[in-house]
Amino acid sequence: MTPTPDIAGLRELLAFYSEAGVDEPLTEEPLNRFAETSTRAAAISEPVPVTRAENGSGQTAPGTAPARPAVVVAQPAAVPDEAQAARAREVARQAKTLGELKAILAEFDGCNLRFTAKNLVFADGNQEADFMLVGEAPGRDEDLQGLPFVGRSGQLLDRMLAAIGRDRTTAYITNVIPWRPPGNRDPSPLETEICRPFIERHIELVAPKVLVTLGNPSTKLLLGTQTGIMRLRGTWSVHRTPGGVEIPTMPTLHPAYLLRNPAHKKLAWRDLLAVKMKLSGQ
Ligand code: URA
Repeated sequence: MTPTPDIAGLRELLAFYSEAGVDEPLTEEPLNRFAETSTRAAAISEPVPVTRAENGSGQTAPGTAPARPAVVVAQPAAVPDEAQAARAREVARQAKTLGELKAILAEFDGCNLRFTAKNLVFADGNQEADFMLVGEAPGRDEDLQGLPFVGRSGQLLDRMLAAIGRDRTTAYITNVIPWRPPGNRDPSPLETEICRPFIERHIELVAPKVLVTLGNPSTKLLLGTQTGIMRLRGTWSVHRTPGGVEIPTMPTLHPAYLLRNPAHKKLAWRDLLAVKMKLSGQ
């Protein structure tokens, strides 16, 4: 006899998953991605036997052979670490165009987030635009479509842009983090540090007249401050690119925050009006 499923129990389990941020079943069986990456990393660093031809003696070398020589192998990060941040700085510098930066990011495997994300979320809008908006990280809709700000926050952002006579043909939009953190959790400080060189190079290559940071994480990172958004919003600051160019920056409230606190929309509206005035030379 087939056992009767415990419907109430299953409902509870689903509710638990949903609260924990599990919003999509991918496979029937759980996958341990960390075990996967450590096996691959171990395979990469395993000592290899030196062949007779390699040691030049015609004999197999006794004892343990030395580890593989330093070949440049893109190693997945089992745990994000400083070495990956250094690698990110190195490769991001090499991008001479936005196309190159996107291709480099698509290849970069030093950030765990890319292994759980479905798509790289690079940017949307007009790269020739005079202003650039930077959010935090893609959510579920963005991950599925590979475009920033296309979910509910994105719809509000579009309305905010419309309020100053702009849309995605006259603005450029991206995020600090180009891959969705699983379950929309906050990116860790190390993940952010690994992504930092890419967003800094991204801004440098777009070279907007004005930058708008949306919410706390992008404001703190791009202005190098610990001061909260509520204090910083509405006041002009400066983002300094790695090459030393100073870009006037307006921190404002994140659309996701505004969805939860609609009474504060007027503050964001004021901030964007200041942006509009600056761009029109007033
Ligand atoms: N929130 C963000 O910060 N970025 C997005 O792309 C979507 C939501």
